[in-house]
Amino acid sequence: MNWLASARVRTPYQSAVRLLQFAEAGPEDVLVDLGSGDGTIPNLAALVFGVKKAWGVETDEEGVSRSEEIARALGLTRERVEFVCGDMFSFGLEGFSVATVFQSEDAVEKLLGKLMRELVPGARVVSYLLPLGTMSPLRMVRPSKVAHPFYLYRAPVEFLDQAGSVRLLEEISGHAEGAEREWAEVSAVANR
Ligand SMILES: C[S@@+](CC[C@H](N)C(=O)[O-])C[C@H]1O[C@@H](n2cnc3c(N)ncnc32)[C@H](O)[C@@H]1O
Repeated sequence: MNWLASARVRTPYQSAVRLLQFAEAGPEDVLVDLGSGDGTIPNLAALVFGVKKAWGVETDEEGVSRSEEIARALGLTRERVEFVCGDMFSFGLEGFSVATVFQSEDAVEKLLGKLMRELVPGARVVSYLLPLGTMSPLRMVRPSKVAHPFYLYRAPVEFLDQAGSVRLLEEISGHAEGAEREWAEVSAVANR
C-alpha cells in the first residue's frame, strides 16, 4: 500500500500551521481537508485560524473518531468543525474557499479535475508534498523545518499549464533564467 494512503501519516502540527498560513486561511473561509487523517488541519484551522467552518473527509473510521475526540477536547463544536467518514472523491466541493490536500500522486491527479469543476472561482487549493498532476502551481514554498513543499493553486481560471507557469515566474523573478531554474526545481521535487 502507498505510504501516503495510511491514516497514520499526518502533517505535524508545526507544518500544518505553516500550511494554513500559506493558504491565508482566515475567518471568511470555509475549508476542507481532503483525506483528513486525525483531523490536524481542520482542527487547527478552526482553533487557531478562526475559519468560518472547517471540514475533514476521511475514509478511515478510527481517524474520524480521533478527529472528533480532539475537536471535543479543544472545545470545538460541530458548527466550527465537522468530520465526514467517506470518500473524498464523492464529497461535493461547492462552497469551499480553501481545500487542502496531502495525497499520493494517483490521488492528486484524480482530484485535479474535481477541484477544477467544483470549486468556486477564487478558491485556493494547497497541496502538501506534490503538485496537482500536470498543473503548475501559482506558488511553491518549502518553509524551514517543513518536510515537503506546499503548492498553491487558485480555482479555476488560474490553474496554469507549464508555459503559463514559467511566464508567471518570469514576471515575479524579473528574468527568464530565474524562472526556468525555479520551474526546474518545482519539476524535480514533483518527479522525486
Ligand atoms: C497522508 S494522510 C494526510 C492526513 C491529513 N490530511 C494530514 O495532513 O495530517 C492521507 C489521508 O487520506 C486518507 N484517504 C485516502 N484516500 C481517501 C479517500 N478516497 N477519501 C477520503 N480519505 C482518503 C487516508 O486514510 C489518510 O488518512
